[in-house]
Amino acid sequence: MNRRPGTHSPGFTDHPVRKGVNPDVNPYLLLHREYPEVIPADQGPGYKGRWSKAFGREAPLFLELGAGNGFHLSGMAAQHPESNWLGLELRFKRVVLIAKKIRAAGLQNAKILRYNWFYLDDLFEDASLDGLALHHPDPWPKGDQAHNRIIDPPFVAQVARLLKPGAEWRMKTDFEPHIDALLKCSEGQPFEVVGRSMDVQRDGAPWERDVITNYQRKSYEKGATVYAVALRRL
Ligand SMILES: C[S@@+](CC[C@H](N)C(=O)[O-])C[C@H]1O[C@@H](n2cnc3c(N)ncnc32)[C@H](O)[C@@H]1O
Repeated sequence: MNRRPGTHSPGFTDHPVRKGVNPDVNPYLLLHREYPEVIPADQGPGYKGRWSKAFGREAPLFLELGAGNGFHLSGMAAQHPESNWLGLELRFKRVVLIAKKIRAAGLQNAKILRYNWFYLDDLFEDASLDGLALHHPDPWPKGDQAHNRIIDPPFVAQVARLLKPGAEWRMKTDFEPHIDALLKCSEGQPFEVVGRSMDVQRDGAPWERDVITNYQRKSYEKGATVYAVALRRL
């Protein structure tokens, strides 16, 4: 995988659905484009610096990376109607699931963008995000897979650039190395740790009114500990 931060923009190219890809292989290749709640990958960079146009109003912009099946995105958007909530998800089927959740909840302040989280500079200007959620990113637990993990120094530096001063980056995961990596990589970056939980199920999250994610629920079901950390952009 060609990893971020891109030297040219857009660095992520959409799946070439118009070039003879058989949609029977993945019906969601075409289907995801039919939902007004979805922003397909080829349209994402066009909103850089003007995300208010995607939502039809000026409002604080919160981004969730790897929104999964959309429980958290739709829950947060319902909890905070004063803000715009943008989910980013790579997998076509999940994008459609999320769109259906947004629609079923009647949310006007949530959208799902199909994109790759390693190319955020295609999409966002510096100091343009009011908050970031990254919950249960894929662990890639084996040592020889570690290069696939999202948390590394360039990624953390990139997020520091994209967040506004005062914005929070929240992460929950049952994979403790992600927490350790985020804390280590944030050293020397303009972040302060404003909350931490060593067991979210037992002690609660280090923020108010936590919305449980799908993978968080799965972690609880298998008896795994969920950790959380909140960083504030200085
Ligand atoms: C383990 S799931 C967690 C989903 C959700 N955040 C939760 O807590 O239930 C990780 C999610 O990240 C998405 N993902 C993985 N790599 C990605 C990438 N490069 N760009 C965007 N999304 C990605 C996956 O498709 C999946 O939905």
